[in-house]
Amino acid sequence: MLEVENLRVWFPHGRGDRVEVVKGVSFSMTRGEALAIVGESGSGKTMTSLSLLGLVPKPGGIEAERLMVDGLDAIGLGKKEWPAVRGKNIAMVFQDALSGLNPVRTIGSTLVEAIKRHQGLSTADAKKAAIETIEAVGIPEPEARFGVYPHQLSGGLRQRVMIALAIINRPSIVVADEPTTALDATIQAQILELLQEMVTDAALILITHDLGVAASICDRVAVMYAGRFVEVGPVDVVLSRPRHPYTAGLLAAVPRFDRERKPLVPIPGSPPAPDDVGTGCPFEPRCPRAMERCSVDRPLLESLDGHPVACWNPVPND
Ligand SMILES: Nc1ncnc2c1ncn2[C@@H]1O[C@H](COP(=O)(O)OP(=O)(O)O)[C@@H](O)[C@H]1O
Ligand code: SF4
Ligand SMILES: [Mg+2]
Repeated sequence: MLEVENLRVWFPHGRGDRVEVVKGVSFSMTRGEALAIVGESGSGKTMTSLSLLGLVPKPGGIEAERLMVDGLDAIGLGKKEWPAVRGKNIAMVFQDALSGLNPVRTIGSTLVEAIKRHQGLSTADAKKAAIETIEAVGIPEPEARFGVYPHQLSGGLRQRVMIALAIINRPSIVVADEPTTALDATIQAQILELLQEMVTDAALILITHDLGVAASICDRVAVMYAGRFVEVGPVDVVLSRPRHPYTAGLLAAVPRFDRERKPLVPIPGSPPAPDDVGTGCPFEPRCPRAMERCSVDRPLLESLDGHPVACWNPVPND
């Protein structure tokens, strides 16, 4: 369904130079699977997801040993070919529906256009399908809502429209980048539930900085730090017994209601700038478990009790 091998995303930097913001990410997914990508702001989560849809902004570029999206070689796809792929093979739910939806078109006409682009339906049939989908994503009075503009809807309803637009052509892969960050806590839970319900037979990539969100609807989690995955594994294992000190740090920094209240401990310092090309572990300046070797030698992902961790001195498994 999705195969990503050694993906790099870069931007030009200075004269003839480039800086990599995604520095060699690999993963694969099958239908029905949900993967969360978590990490602090700036770690490269959005650039990773945009690269899967050919949407990395100019003048940036991507490189990969392999990038297969629903059986298509995404590296070879040109500007003219992507519109046929986006929405049909892979679709995206953006964080902010106001920027993801066309403000001067009614939600009905946006949905009808999306259907007609990928399916050979008449306008009447496309309209019928659009109204059915508006209803399926839990928007009341779908016929009346067909004619409204995005700004006339609440944030929660707009995000439901975004989900409708993402799933309307039954894509094999759905990427949701912080889909609930802009919403109230009570609405967040409803939108996550809807997302989970709507993409049961696709592969879902959920980008989030919220570990609770990751745990609630995903099977697997990839923890991203400074452009690389540093720990990847089943959500229940990684979030209950993290082995990478960064994962442990993220967990210690968020409130958890499933165990006794511990004081929250923020991770000290901040991530390195993308153009920092030290040879050691990028987390070393902030790591409570750092050893001498860490500042000179960068650890690669290696299997530790069945899941990959990039660390010389992992958190003990007790
Ligand atoms: N258009 C751009 N030009 C140069 N650097 C960019 C651009 N967009 C994003 N970046 C950089 O890429 C890095 C990763 O960004 P992003 O993928 O948005 O992180 P995240 O989604 O994890 O918060 C950041 O350091 C950011 O500053
Ligand atoms: S390799 Fe060293 S510095 Fe990096 S996370 Fe592990 S212990 Fe910390
Ligand atoms: Mg982002």
